[in-house]
Amino acid sequence: MKKLVTLCLSVYVILASTVYAQNTGNSDKTTASLTAASMGLKDAYAGKFLIGAAGDIPNRYSESELANIKANYNVITPENCMKPQPTHPSEDKYNFTIPDTLVQWCLDNNIKIWGHTLAWHAQTAPWFFEAEPSETEETATRPTRPPAMTEDRRGPRLSMAEFWRRRISGPLASREVAIERLKNHIMTVVGRYKGRIIGWDVFNESIADSGDYTTENLRTFSWYQVVGPDVLTMAFKWAHEADPDAQLYYNDYNIEQGAVENTGKHASSMLLLKRLIKEGAPITGVGIQGHWHLDTNLKDVEQAIIDYASLGLKVAITELDVTATGSNSGAFGGFGRNNAPIPPENYEKQAKVYKALFEIFMRHSDVIDRVTFWGISDTRSWRRGRDALIFDGELQPKPAYKAIMDLGTGKNE
Ligand code: GLA
Repeated sequence: MKKLVTLCLSVYVILASTVYAQNTGNSDKTTASLTAASMGLKDAYAGKFLIGAAGDIPNRYSESELANIKANYNVITPENCMKPQPTHPSEDKYNFTIPDTLVQWCLDNNIKIWGHTLAWHAQTAPWFFEAEPSETEETATRPTRPPAMTEDRRGPRLSMAEFWRRRISGPLASREVAIERLKNHIMTVVGRYKGRIIGWDVFNESIADSGDYTTENLRTFSWYQVVGPDVLTMAFKWAHEADPDAQLYYNDYNIEQGAVENTGKHASSMLLLKRLIKEGAPITGVGIQGHWHLDTNLKDVEQAIIDYASLGLKVAITELDVTATGSNSGAFGGFGRNNAPIPPENYEKQAKVYKALFEIFMRHSDVIDRVTFWGISDTRSWRRGRDALIFDGELQPKPAYKAIMDLGTGKNE
């Protein structure tokens, strides 16, 4: 039986790779007629939800990678280039070259674009929060997060709040000044792409990781400290004003956790969303990031979708990846520093988890608009070394890809 499964999988992988070759322009005549197999993920889920990937395309992507993107995805989230830091490194300077190229490439290839992200505590230049904006212009598109230090090498890792505080020079800006800066930022960025970007993550990751889950438990620094909790509602209103047709989402990680018991970060997210709705924020939906692992609690995932839908909101899975090793699901922790080989059975388990997740998404496809992977292959992933995506480092389909494709095309029935 095991041999049969291995044989079937091998045949499938060969087929999928040939189709991939076909899509890259290297096709041969034998593959040209494989109509069913030439379906990409986006086709398998057409009519259910969009299938997306994150990437700062097309710069520095190979022809094969771009062909893979065109074959499998119908919506792209810019991985870094539209975040506040790279787009707005100092008060009077915007950088739109990379985002403009991305938007044009997607439009030329009939791929939608999801904007990420208008406001966040991370990857945001310090000047936004300073009474006297510092002159240092930071244009890097790489993440500005606390470096993942190990205790033995460089001392303990800084908390996000401390990391944020150390980047600010001098006193903090007043509430009024900070409001004006965020408003200008949002009106400029959303306005520029009006009608071309289908929607935006307006606020990213507002809820703290631990604390009192009978409250919204917002982070205590950055926008929440300088402006206050009402900054979220304001941001949604400005984004709506700048592009009334854009869908507007609140995006966060681990907000499904505790859904079955109505505790944890999920409970806080429900309180926050209810308040935003009450305050008249024009919010369309919630992005569950979906940085998951082999033991992610699937019941929480499904209950969270049900809960958000009960508020009249749409749901998207915005940053999906499932590590093939370890059980860390948060935004930090483990860039594959431990180079131990991943046992082959983990890829089968990973396929099962991906399949179970997509079964949930299918059951709720009436409220799920989009499922986006955070990267296109195990080398184009922030969780490098943990093989969290559905194409391997060589861009070959993994068992997870087959599991999702079979489900989407009804092959398992
Ligand atoms: C968060 C952000 C993303 C990205 C990932 C890690 O989930 O929303 O933009 O930075 O972390 O790469």
